[in-house]
Amino acid sequence: MIVGVPKESFPGERRVALVPSVIPNLAKAGFEVAIEKGAGVEAGYPDAAYVEKGGKILADRATVFGTADIIAQVLCYGSNDKTGKADLPLMRREQVLIGFLRALGSREIVQEIAGAGVTSFSIEMMPRTTRAQSMDALSSMATACGYKAVLIAADVLPRFFPMLTTAAGTITPARVLILGVGVAGLQAIATARRLGAVVSAYDLRPAVKEQVQSLGARFVELPIEAKDAQDARGYASAQDDAFYARQRELLGRVVAENDVVITTAVVPGKKAPVLVTAAMVRGMAPASVIVDLASERGGNCELTRAGETVVESGVTIIGRINLASTVPYHASSLYARNVTAFLLHLVKDGKLNINLEDEIIRETLLTWGGELVNARVREFYSLPALPAKGSV
Ligand code: NAI
Repeated sequence: MIVGVPKESFPGERRVALVPSVIPNLAKAGFEVAIEKGAGVEAGYPDAAYVEKGGKILADRATVFGTADIIAQVLCYGSNDKTGKADLPLMRREQVLIGFLRALGSREIVQEIAGAGVTSFSIEMMPRTTRAQSMDALSSMATACGYKAVLIAADVLPRFFPMLTTAAGTITPARVLILGVGVAGLQAIATARRLGAVVSAYDLRPAVKEQVQSLGARFVELPIEAKDAQDARGYASAQDDAFYARQRELLGRVVAENDVVITTAVVPGKKAPVLVTAAMVRGMAPASVIVDLASERGGNCELTRAGETVVESGVTIIGRINLASTVPYHASSLYARNVTAFLLHLVKDGKLNINLEDEIIRETLLTWGGELVNARVREFYSLPALPAKGSV
């Protein structure tokens, strides 16, 4: 089977879906790897590095789509709403597509992908189980985002992060607050701690308290309790308006005490909850910084504008998107390992093994045989359930 890797086409995207070091592993399992010319250059992987590991370089995108049995991308049409549509006519029926497809983003787009006849796997639907951990690309990218968010905040903040004892006196450390402690939040805590900040963190899931403390941060406890805070898959459950209102009220003082606030709170398939209002921003010390990692999902700060930086009452609110792409070497390397683990799981003895009894396959399979087949996604878009289908 040939795995083809087109160059990412989303504007500004620098990642690549496979890196040279995974090629030998894939070759052992019988895969050939074909890369579009220059696809890895911006991530730090020149064509020669792929060739050295046994990869083949193809001249253009159309040849990659025309040659490959399986296409591996980072941002496929769906998550790439800018240029992704141009790939649709290049796709072949029964070709396999693996990447971020934003299955819960737009029903029309998912149906267009189904209409192309491709067998697509939405890598962000990977179950959060121990068995699937090596394939969890969402966690890999969240790690990159959490790390980079702190570096951006440190760069913009006109203060030092660490405590410094100098001949000119002592500098007190920066105070950093992380709101939402999933994978990105945990990495943000660890990074801010490494830079010497005093870190505190809050999440509506009380289960994360121990993880926060084990990273040397203080867990902020608010006197409100979320209803069924965590769903069966470990994600935060959506709360009612009264909960969010009370949460904002209680967070006001906590936010005002910090120099940097990094927000990461999202709920799958929903607009991100507003945790920091405009009034709370005005209550912060001038020159404070907010980095909103939920900006693409509507933002956790009322003033965030996706992709932009806003300054309000001296507070800088950074809504940059696609931060994983700004650490492209390692983000690609982690992603490539996730995709490789998934490919090795998906293909047995050189053949596709779409075993719907396997949770990993069932949960990630989005479109198959011209239909949107994923039960969770169908339910999300209020489409009737499909009759049970066998495996191939
Ligand atoms: P996420 O990106 O979906 O959300 C980020 C964080 O925001 C979550 O911790 C969530 O609880 C929090 N949040 C949402 N609404 C909030 C609110 N109103 N106030 C405060 N916090 C709020 O999270 P991510 O990183 O995708 O992780 C989701 C879950 O999956 C976690 O329980 C994580 O530990 C688990 N996980 C499990 C893995 C495994 O077992 N293999 C791998 C990765 C994650």
